[in-house]
Amino acid sequence: MSTTDRRHGPAPLPAARGPVSAALLTALPGSPGELPAGLGDGFATVAAPLTDEDLQLTLFLCYELHYRGWRDVAEEWEWEPALLALRARAERPFEAALRRLAGPLPAVLPAALPAALTDLVAADDGPALAATLQRRADLEQFREFVTHRSIYHLREADPHSWALPRLGGPAKAALVEIQMDEYGNGRLDRMHAELFRTTMDRLGLDTGYAAHLDRVPAVTLAINNLMSLFGLHRRLRGALLGHLAGYEMTSSLPNRRYGNGLRRLGFDAVATRFYDEHVEADAVHEQIAAYDMCGGLVRAEPALAGDVLFGAAAGLAVDRLFAGHVLSAWSAGGSSLRAPDRALAAA
Ligand SMILES: [Fe+2]
Ligand SMILES: [Fe+2]
Repeated sequence: MSTTDRRHGPAPLPAARGPVSAALLTALPGSPGELPAGLGDGFATVAAPLTDEDLQLTLFLCYELHYRGWRDVAEEWEWEPALLALRARAERPFEAALRRLAGPLPAVLPAALPAALTDLVAADDGPALAATLQRRADLEQFREFVTHRSIYHLREADPHSWALPRLGGPAKAALVEIQMDEYGNGRLDRMHAELFRTTMDRLGLDTGYAAHLDRVPAVTLAINNLMSLFGLHRRLRGALLGHLAGYEMTSSLPNRRYGNGLRRLGFDAVATRFYDEHVEADAVHEQIAAYDMCGGLVRAEPALAGDVLFGAAAGLAVDRLFAGHVLSAWSAGGSSLRAPDRALAAA
């Protein structure tokens, strides 16, 4: 196996979190082929799929094969029918849980979609995680927050790029405009993922791709898995664009707060650049995403308006779950991450 640049993946396989992820992790280093009969059947009756460690890790293991893959795992696993069948058994309860969480959404005519997105975002009353990070969080808590976010930000924008070949016309042009900024207009040192790596480095955190996977709980994996679910299924392209719009429309203010929190803790402009960049960029992206991208999509495909709202609502709702998890761990005087010994014991 060739040497790997840890910054860009593939990451080494993580520790198991239950019987299904354990069986999959046993199989992945071997030749692609059959998995144990009935593997993942039990996911159909999981009570809380969004916070089920075994289900979320199983999904993450399957999805990552479409991104950077796993170190010392054959690339052919990506399209192995047995693995795709397992993935589907995890996806069904996951998607159903996302639809329950997003709740009933108003029927919306294409012309009213940008306004409906604005209403949805305005009604978002999530826990005040950003305000806590701005005003009170200590350095260790800030490092925790960045550790959770590293799973996404070190590959920032990648899940939404799955939409590009599925679109044409104005929606595609708008998505490209957003993604160009996310990818630094082709300049490595301006790519948002690389700006985030610098922040992590300043905080003394390992900047390897998915280096903190064993430490993040199911809800953090769910944030990532929902983007992969929307991104890898063409039928969910409306939800994928809605998700991106929801992110962009709720980004500017929290990012200002994150940057201010780091400044309060004594960090310099290099450390805060990732957040500062998003204050400016996402104020622009917000408009492009709602009007040009999502508006353009539903002008071309009016039937997708409901999916766009669902994608935005699901993203915001899972983020609220995440924020609630972090804040309740902190107010109980604990850590929002999985204990290192638990991650090791699971291995
Ligand atoms: Fe970004
Ligand atoms: Fe953005």
